[in-house]
Amino acid sequence: MSTNTYDDRRGRIETYFDRTAVEAWKQLTSTDPVSSIRETVRRGREMMRELLLDWLPVVLDGQRVLDAGCGTGALACEAAIHGAEVVGVDISANLIAIARERAPARTDGGGSVKFLVGDMLGQEHGAFDHVVAMDSLIHYETADLLPALAKLAERTRSSIVFTFAPRTPALMLMHTAGLMFPRGDRAPAIVPVSVAKLTHLIETEPGLSGWAVKRTQRVSSGFYKSQAMQLVRT
Ligand SMILES: C[S@@+](CC[C@H](N)C(=O)[O-])C[C@H]1O[C@@H](n2cnc3c(N)ncnc32)[C@H](O)[C@@H]1O
Repeated sequence: MSTNTYDDRRGRIETYFDRTAVEAWKQLTSTDPVSSIRETVRRGREMMRELLLDWLPVVLDGQRVLDAGCGTGALACEAAIHGAEVVGVDISANLIAIARERAPARTDGGGSVKFLVGDMLGQEHGAFDHVVAMDSLIHYETADLLPALAKLAERTRSSIVFTFAPRTPALMLMHTAGLMFPRGDRAPAIVPVSVAKLTHLIETEPGLSGWAVKRTQRVSSGFYKSQAMQLVRT
């Protein structure tokens, strides 16, 4: 990983999610009314969250789960309801404050959730059974994505589920036309990569030897297009 490009990108992501778009993101992840464009994004994100949770074991009792780049914490809370001991980590202090406000006081499923401000790759978070990174790696260069996955893999016992922006002709057109984000509210660029290329890079990344792509699936809902992938230990 190039510390320079990773740190530079992370700084811009933090500025965007912690300042520029914090209110928009708070609204998108609530049940408040949003524009029809954002409604398609909200629906797509709900579909993605359900898919990623479906790929985790049904019973998560006592399992440690990292929600890497947890934002306002919806997925982390769901995993806790399924019994997991969840740590949600995000670089944005403002989004973590919202996640803490929204977290249930207790989870009937017996799990727990703790939200921390920090880098999702930080060693201080400890080891996990499963890591979930929903739309939190999409802004990093592919050259930084692979080492990031390898760093997460070092402290993961069973599976990593994450999303990336699939590189398809239609999506490239949307990126070029600047249609992926509403004007004035644009996030740092998303870095699309094809499923075939990413699969090949994962298979040849030394830091991911002992891991395999188990499955991948696209979620598409209006302006939301994202590809889920699950890595498991072989
Ligand atoms: C598109 S949002 C998705 C949030 C959440 N996973 C969800 O799906 O609602 C991306 C999140 O990743 C966080 N993020 C990006 N890079 C990060 C890093 N290196 N460490 C911690 N959080 C990071 C951002 O601050 C932002 O909250």
